Amino acid sequence: MAKGNKGNGGEKDVLNEPGFGYGKKYFRHKNTLIFHGDTLDKKLFDRQFIDLIITSPPYNVGIGYNSNDDGLSYEKYLRFSYEWMKNCFDWGNGQARFCLNIPLDKNKGGHRPVGADLTKTAMAAGWEYKTTIIWNEGNISSRTAWGSWKSASAPVVIAPVELIVVFFKNEWKKTNGTQINDVTADEFKDWTQGVWAFNGESKKRIGHPAPFPKQLPYRCAKLFSYQNDLVFDPFAGSGTTLIVAQNLKRRAIGVELDSQYYELAKKRTIQETGSIDF
Ligand SMILES: C[S@@+](CC[C@H](N)C(=O)[O-])C[C@H]1O[C@@H](n2cnc3c(N)ncnc32)[C@H](O)[C@@H]1O
Repeated sequence: MAKGNKGNGGEKDVLNEPGFGYGKKYFRHKNTLIFHGDTLDKKLFDRQFIDLIITSPPYNVGIGYNSNDDGLSYEKYLRFSYEWMKNCFDWGNGQARFCLNIPLDKNKGGHRPVGADLTKTAMAAGWEYKTTIIWNEGNISSRTAWGSWKSASAPVVIAPVELIVVFFKNEWKKTNGTQINDVTADEFKDWTQGVWAFNGESKKRIGHPAPFPKQLPYRCAKLFSYQNDLVFDPFAGSGTTLIVAQNLKRRAIGVELDSQYYELAKKRTIQETGSIDF
């Protein structure tokens, strides 16, 4: 058994272990820790503590984040992706699972199969592939970028969906943890159909340039983890994953690079843990 969290509700809780994330700036509220740090820093954690990762990394589509460059060359972006995915692999316990919310593809600055490339990148970092969930965001905005209008000369096709690609570390079957489930029969039937439909989140309402809706971590946490499992978000942003995990009686750890978003995640965590409303 790996050093660190056993996720079984009693034996060892990494949140209370002296030296965990030692020397790094973090904030604690209830069973949630938020680190103000860099997920690329291999030394951020020195043990295998993660049961479930739920995250949406920067998409490299030129979003105006405060602190990271979202306009890397595609090769540099894949290298960046490999590095954080490898760190997360090293920090996962043997039955760790990984829900990766990413675009299907990218049209700006050259057409790229981002979903396919990041799936391969995660596998190169050690993760085993399990499945892909299609998230239909209902984002049918009025379009002008047709490529060619009513002509076969150069049409552009855009699917208004994102992916949630699911991976695991060594074993898919979970034998660790509390074994306390909270997914209902209807939720289980519905969510194991791999096309999910719910709306995206408003940037303005949250005050972050790319938040995902609570529904996304809510479904992933209930479907793929037990109560008291440790849910990790290496790109915590406004703290959505952490808030949902805490409210679902999971433990939560997040990392955020930018000081403004770190403060936002702290504020939301204090304000929004204690109730599940979305
Ligand atoms: C797509 S957003 C995540 C949004 C989050 N799911 C939410 O609901 O608010 C990506 C976040 O990753 C942060 N970030 C970028 N590079 C990072 C790094 N190397 N380490 C930690 N956080 C980073 C950005 O500042 C941004 O807040």
